Amino acid sequence: MSLNLEPILQARAEQTVDPLRPHYHFLPPANWLNDPNGFIQRRGRYHLFYQYNPAGAFHGDIHWGHATSADLVRWEHRPVALAPTPGGPDAGGCWSGSAVVGGPGTPFDGRPLFFYTGVFPQVVCAALGSDDLDTWTKHPANPLIAAPPPGFGGQTGDFRDPFVWREGETWWMVIGSRVENGGGAVLLYRSADLLAWEYAGPLLVGDATPDAPLWTGTVWECPNLFPLDGRHVLIVSFQNHDSGELLYAGYMVGDFSDGRFTPGPFRPLEYGNALYAPQVTIDESGRAVLIGWLREGRDQATQRAAGWSGVMSLPRLLSLGDDGTLRLRPVPELTELRRDPLHVAPCLFQPGDANPLAELRGGRLEIEAVLEPAGATAFGLHLVETEFLGRNSVSIHCNVAAGTISSITRT
Ligand code: FRU
Repeated sequence: MSLNLEPILQARAEQTVDPLRPHYHFLPPANWLNDPNGFIQRRGRYHLFYQYNPAGAFHGDIHWGHATSADLVRWEHRPVALAPTPGGPDAGGCWSGSAVVGGPGTPFDGRPLFFYTGVFPQVVCAALGSDDLDTWTKHPANPLIAAPPPGFGGQTGDFRDPFVWREGETWWMVIGSRVENGGGAVLLYRSADLLAWEYAGPLLVGDATPDAPLWTGTVWECPNLFPLDGRHVLIVSFQNHDSGELLYAGYMVGDFSDGRFTPGPFRPLEYGNALYAPQVTIDESGRAVLIGWLREGRDQATQRAAGWSGVMSLPRLLSLGDDGTLRLRPVPELTELRRDPLHVAPCLFQPGDANPLAELRGGRLEIEAVLEPAGATAFGLHLVETEFLGRNSVSIHCNVAAGTISSITRT
């Protein structure tokens, strides 16, 4: 499919005056972005696809946008990869999914393949990619999986976000879902040829009873299961079905063999609820790299007026710590962006003191700081102050007594 990039680039040019528009995190030239999809490295290049609405900065008529990068730092926008087909199983949108390269014993040896969610109802579809991953053809057998297994999906048929990987001769797929009148669920499928998928049972089901602060909601979305440092990690994003509220992303370290996952304790992936629907790829050098959608703090009208909504997190490298929990750190490639360092000598601040950073300007700063309370009950860094679309400011605030660090955005 070829799509004209001109209107998008035009819209982007018109947005260069927007001081709030991010330059450090990935976002499309314009319009709406949510989940990362089909994240994969092939022949040295990373390919990032994402949930995209070409009609504006709001969720709707979901396509798959596409960008590529040699280094996970600088991204080149490519034409839209997937669009809904009128009358097809994805007529209502091409929702989230993953990418693999087919292997021997399948009809797709060496070919890039998407598994994604067609709506509505929610079904599993496949598309075949050109060698450069720019052009995608939907498989004639779509939908490959037409409905959730009995007892799952609930009235709204929640059954989405296929994530596919291979272990030995077997291709596995996990899908997010919900138990009828119950909590969230991850469902497991297996295949020998990537076309015929056999249901292998629920991999894990959640408890619908709210048990703050670690409640895991009533629909599980965007599952990822992947090997890491000799174990397996399951990442899931949790939604409250009744309110539609997206809660947060969590993970479990465990062991996966013969279609069974034995999980350790469940933990949130990070504090706060900005990071959602992350996707992990094992790249060509064997690194586990995670990228996720950072949700908006701005209200919907402000997003529409700005013409863009949503960014990707920085790509993060995953590893297991000595205590068996997940470690996430920005990929080292990002240090290539460092320029013009400014060093500030250690000093003690009292309220009202002159700001040693007062002359520092610009919206793209990497700050490495060691801050010690020295008896203060609270301290922080005031980062941004603009008058664009109203008064906006961003601060990082540390409350010593509560032991919390938070970012505070005022618009
Ligand atoms: C997660 C999600 C997925 C779904 C997609 C639709 O943010 O709700 O479950 O496939 O977004 O855009």
